[in-house]
Amino acid sequence: MLTTDEIRSFFPAIQTSPDVILDNAGGSQVPKGVADAIRDYMLENYVQVGADYETSQRSTGTVAKAHEFIDLFMNGVGCGHAILASSTTVQCAVLADCYARAARGGRNEIIVAETAHEANAGPWYRLADRGFVVHTWAFDLESLELHLADLENLLSDRTLLVAFPHVSNVLGNVDDAQAITKAAHGAGARVVIDGVAYAPHRAIDVATLEADWYGYSTYKVFGPHMAAMFGTNEAFEELDGPNHFFIPREEVPYKFEPGGPSHEGCAGLLALWPYLAALAGGAVDGEPDRKSVEKAFDRISVLEDPLLHRMLEYLGTKPDVRIIGPASPSPSRVATVSFVHRSKRSAEIAKAANTAHFGIRYGHFYAYRLCHRLALEGVLHDVEDGVVRVSMLHYNTLDEIDGLIRCFEELL
Ligand SMILES: Cc1ncc(COP(=O)(O)O)c(C=O)c1O
Repeated sequence: MLTTDEIRSFFPAIQTSPDVILDNAGGSQVPKGVADAIRDYMLENYVQVGADYETSQRSTGTVAKAHEFIDLFMNGVGCGHAILASSTTVQCAVLADCYARAARGGRNEIIVAETAHEANAGPWYRLADRGFVVHTWAFDLESLELHLADLENLLSDRTLLVAFPHVSNVLGNVDDAQAITKAAHGAGARVVIDGVAYAPHRAIDVATLEADWYGYSTYKVFGPHMAAMFGTNEAFEELDGPNHFFIPREEVPYKFEPGGPSHEGCAGLLALWPYLAALAGGAVDGEPDRKSVEKAFDRISVLEDPLLHRMLEYLGTKPDVRIIGPASPSPSRVATVSFVHRSKRSAEIAKAANTAHFGIRYGHFYAYRLCHRLALEGVLHDVEDGVVRVSMLHYNTLDEIDGLIRCFEELL
């Protein structure tokens, strides 16, 4: 098994950054191999896909293999395909437009979780302009959780789909996506799950969740600035993709990838495999396999656990601090920790930590509706000030967390 020091040696930016990087929910660092693969592709193989000459065939192969790898990474092989695009925001907007153009079969209601990042909220709320009724699935103010019973009250035979996060990028709690999906399916509705805040911490498993649509941003999972949206064959079947009219409807996922994905990005995505294989303790030159992906994420959880424990334990000793999200470590909590201080603004705390070279941040993190309600209820100072967020990944160390805690001692 790789030690934390060995893991850190894969990430050059960690060695050179003047800041301790604890803003990982905004975007992760990449292993050198990923950056090298992007560079090599651009210098050696930068021609268009789809022609018959050798270099073009290599490009075609890279893009095809990247799709296959992401299908495997998400455990979707055989049940659907991942669309590759520039961001989850774009993926959700494209999907919402597809649903607006599709036959509705009497289903014109959409349910959106209030804890959603705006990427998986705004596009659905905007469909109110195109004849849909959009309901908010409100979170419970006491526990800050989404309750299944509240969703069940909103579901009916008019529900087209339910959009919700697997993990809130502010709260850090893992929602029971399997139970939510089961309830939605019971009403005949589809689900669109935002897995962006889940994917850096746990192995995505669309097969077990039976997710119709599941998206995540690859730049938050040690890869290039892209995003993957997995859809099942049945879910694709109901929609017309937005790509050019002469591209056959059945050509999935390309029919849903107008302009195509970044080719050099695809090379970078593929180069994540050796890092995951090394984390899993296996051979780095073999073909990608699902078991190793799961093992790699098991290792990631084990490495993140002590960091999460230390941070929560410390914040729990501060009487003026309220943790916004689960205050205790558990398997249904990831290492993204947000808090507010009774009298000090989040901006003041984050900026002071930044001056001491701790890369954390404050704000609503585009979970605007969640933070807006918390601000209205007096939990936050205001929506823009939001929360202070410390987002840790497996390559962070206890020393780094202890350093931040020493810095917080002067502030909290
Ligand atoms: C939970 C969550 N969903 C969606 C997004 C949007 O992702 P992208 O930047 O790929 O559009 C983010 C980005 O921070 C996020 O944290």
